Amino acid sequence: MESTRSIGYSLESAIADIIDNSIAADASNIQIRFLPDENSYIAIMDNGCGMTYNELKKAMQYGSRSPSEKRADNDLGRYGLGLKTASLSQCKTLTVISKKNYKVTACRWDLSYIQKKDEWLLQILEKDEINNLPCFSYLENLKSGTIVLWQNLDRLLATGNPHRDILGSKMIKVREHLSLVFHRYLEGADVPRKISIDINNMEVLPKDPFLSKRSTKAMAEEVITIEGQQVVIRPYILPHISKLSKSELESLGGSDGLRKLQGFYVYRNKRLVVWGTWFRMMVKGDLSKLARIQVDIPNTLDELWTLDIKKSSAIPPELVQQNLKTIIEKIAEKSKRTWEFRGKKEQDNKFGIWERLRTRDNGYTYQINLNSPIIKELLANFPKAKRSLIAVFSLIGSRLPLNSLYLDLVQEQKIQNNDEQENETVLQQMQELLSMCKSIDDKRKMLKDFLNLSPFSEHKDFITQNIERILKNE
Ligand SMILES: Nc1ncnc2c1ncn2[C@@H]1O[C@H](COP(=O)(O)OP(=O)(O)OP(=O)(O)O)[C@@H](O)[C@H]1O
Ligand SMILES: [Mg+2]
Repeated sequence: MESTRSIGYSLESAIADIIDNSIAADASNIQIRFLPDENSYIAIMDNGCGMTYNELKKAMQYGSRSPSEKRADNDLGRYGLGLKTASLSQCKTLTVISKKNYKVTACRWDLSYIQKKDEWLLQILEKDEINNLPCFSYLENLKSGTIVLWQNLDRLLATGNPHRDILGSKMIKVREHLSLVFHRYLEGADVPRKISIDINNMEVLPKDPFLSKRSTKAMAEEVITIEGQQVVIRPYILPHISKLSKSELESLGGSDGLRKLQGFYVYRNKRLVVWGTWFRMMVKGDLSKLARIQVDIPNTLDELWTLDIKKSSAIPPELVQQNLKTIIEKIAEKSKRTWEFRGKKEQDNKFGIWERLRTRDNGYTYQINLNSPIIKELLANFPKAKRSLIAVFSLIGSRLPLNSLYLDLVQEQKIQNNDEQENETVLQQMQELLSMCKSIDDKRKMLKDFLNLSPFSEHKDFITQNIERILKNE
């Protein structure tokens, strides 16, 4: 039994495994309680269907169900191991208290006791023992439900720091993990039953990794049929970083995470199993970092996937991989275009304010375009200052703060120079510029040229409706 303890569960994946069981037991409410003191414990409680005495005894056995056994459609289990291996990876005493048909029973695996007796002895708890267990009161008002109680948290508390600090900070990670892996159950969309989870009475909120209300669906969803079962693939392109609010960016993993977390998001029965990987079909590039692809597989295809006991890694079957490859190519292309489109817009047309010129030694230089209508008009209107003006423009071009721009960009800082502006602001800007024209006819002509230039071109309708106002400088 000791050997199964080192299977490499993290606290968050262990708790998620216990919650899988609660969901399979049709629970709608899951509560996690932890007490960080000398007698620290973690309890995971649900209002699911519960277990009878015999069912509980069976559930406590390793391999209580075989992987080849057919499971209910909504069952998140597979190996008949999770309850035991996940629990005992974190604690030395696992007690499961369950209520069904108003009857409460409890069983315990206690590793210290087993070691002492040198025998696998499953303890059956007496009624008054049960009544004294922490959190027992949760079951009192329920018709059925289950409490999984972990005590003697030796693994968790091994580092010797004060219990409160360790458990507290680990639980922050647990909360983040649960809000992501169960986000579709927490949202309640398109699952058999919406669930709520709370940790020490604070609700766990769903975290949608696709920001699906704001993202573009890169292409229609694709359905691959394998052995009569459907695998559904839904690609998303996240909004460009400059369009994300601070909290949105944070929920997507921060600017660092955006690149790391691109890739497939694979769900088994709507529960997220693996995410942020292209399964070695493509490298995680900067240009594809807005691409996230949802892949839904039913539990009936388990034997085709390589799914590990912790359900935290999965490798798709060959047939699915081939299909995913073509989708990857299309989607990466789209994500790339989101960047390139913005690049094009910046450079505008040949009358734009900036021009990008190729130099003789095959480099590029950015310069203020003396042929852009605004600059031309300005130079024509101030012939005496023409030479100085040209010198100033050339100086501006040669002093672009490229290094700090580059640093800001790779660190995903928001550069707001080109942000969209209000109609009125653009209109005023236009009036200021037109004020250098000598005649109303000049103004009209320049205004017409402006309409093809960014940012004015983006406010074309508004400007056209207000031409008279602009010309009269109102
Ligand atoms: N919260 C619960 N409510 C009701 N029944 C439960 C609960 N937790 C576990 N069980 C029962 O105990 C059995 C064993 O659970 P366990 O997690 O060890 O294996 P599994 O879920 O069948 O497979 P896996 O190893 O993939 O998790 C389950 O199949 C289920 O019948
Ligand atoms: Mg399980």
